[in-house]
Amino acid sequence: MEIKTVGVIGAGTMGHGIAQVFAHAGFAVQLVDVAQPMLDRAHAAIARSLGKFVEKGTLAPADRDGILGRIWMTTSLDLLTGADYIVEAIAEDADAKRALFASLDAIAKAEATLASNTSSISITTLGAATKRPDRVLGMHFMNPVPLMPLVELIRGQDTSPESMRIAFEICARLGKTAVEAADYPGFIANRILMPMINEAIYAVMEGVGTPEAIDTVMKLGMNHPMGPLTLADFIGLDVCLAILTVLHDGLGDPKYRPCPLLRRMVAAGRLGQKSGQGFYTY
Ligand code: CAA
Repeated sequence: MEIKTVGVIGAGTMGHGIAQVFAHAGFAVQLVDVAQPMLDRAHAAIARSLGKFVEKGTLAPADRDGILGRIWMTTSLDLLTGADYIVEAIAEDADAKRALFASLDAIAKAEATLASNTSSISITTLGAATKRPDRVLGMHFMNPVPLMPLVELIRGQDTSPESMRIAFEICARLGKTAVEAADYPGFIANRILMPMINEAIYAVMEGVGTPEAIDTVMKLGMNHPMGPLTLADFIGLDVCLAILTVLHDGLGDPKYRPCPLLRRMVAAGRLGQKSGQGFYTY
């Protein structure tokens, strides 16, 4: 089956970035969100991001208009009946994702693939919520999606080799490098990234260094583009806590226990860039 129409569910930071890169690669995109204001914000964010490429001269103004014209926004999930490939990018809530996959299974055409952009939730349990677990897989993009070249592809217990092949082919069309990971908590990216961020937060809590000192060590000493605390603020401290909880619960090893300071900051509503306050003030 030739994949032409792609549904993206959830118009938050990841969802609108995913919609943008699919449209950039020539796919017709249906971007779905329950809230119209989210769709309006997504449209503005995509236009802003494409504008940066135009400013740099890497995208022609006419191509920007073409990309925007290929993204169709809707609040109705039922309109995804025509989609050949669907990527879910709603909030990191396992129950909400399972319920959505069950609904998508009923709506989407039989041959459509259902992918999840989850950063840590089990792909196997999402597949089990459908009658097509062979066509369910993880497609984990990195933020900011238009700039980051990696996609982690997660093979669930029953994901078929054909579904993996299709996903690798799509990533190549998106200009992304795909890497396969098995369905264990946190997959590869967050299994390694989150313990580093968590350790940096322990180092703040124990007074080993200030956030600025810790970030400077990792930026200048290890050549990371962002220090771990700046990155945690960028990802969202609530998202970091949710991922660490999945690692801790799923692997049962105390080395993954979320730092108490992280829990306290999330409880206080200090979520990083999006709330204006995290380890830094925005
Ligand atoms: N669209 C288009 N262009 C963008 C953009 C976007 N969304 N965001 C930034 N840019 C452009 C900027 O305009 C700028 O362009 P110029 O160089 O022409 O000025 C360029 O990208 C660099 O941006 P900045 O100068 O603002 O900042 P920077 O040099 O620090 O780069 C960054 C920004 C690419 C985000 C870089 O800091 C970086 O790579 N950080 C690490 C990101 C990372 O680790 N992401 C993964 C997070 S983990 C995750 O996503 C998964 C998970 O499950 C938690």
